[in-house]
Amino acid sequence: MNIDFYERIWMWAAGVIIAIFIVVIGASTVAYGLHPPSHIETIEPSKIFTDPRFSKLGAVEMPDGTIEVQMVAIMFAFAPNEVRVPAGRPIRFRLTSADVTHGFMIARTNANTMLVPGYISQFTTVFPRPGDYLVVCHEFCGNGHHVMSGRIIVEESK
Ligand code: CUA
Repeated sequence: MNIDFYERIWMWAAGVIIAIFIVVIGASTVAYGLHPPSHIETIEPSKIFTDPRFSKLGAVEMPDGTIEVQMVAIMFAFAPNEVRVPAGRPIRFRLTSADVTHGFMIARTNANTMLVPGYISQFTTVFPRPGDYLVVCHEFCGNGHHVMSGRIIVEESK
């Protein structure tokens, strides 16, 4: 098969560019520890409040020493609305929605995920400094969307 010289150059150029993109994406994924915010764990939205996985809303110290925060988004609030966690320790957030799709973003941090009914969103983050952090819903969820917020109070760890 005869391929024109210039065509051949451009085919190689395109191949090299694609290879560079793959290397950059792969390397930065490892270097920055990027991962999808969720894992595939389902839950029946109408049975959240009787499900053992959400039986301890708020911050709970688990037997292995990790701190887990369970919160449920429901039009137009987070349950619970206020959670206290220690600074400098990994906090595992386990979140879900009881009705429609909500958002969960902790302002001034990298904590940001969607809460899709039927799924549990999970991520782990560390708050390096104590402070009062605002949680906002950033997915339009209805006529009370703009008032849907919560607080994470990060305390000096003991
Ligand atoms: Cu919940 Cu917007």
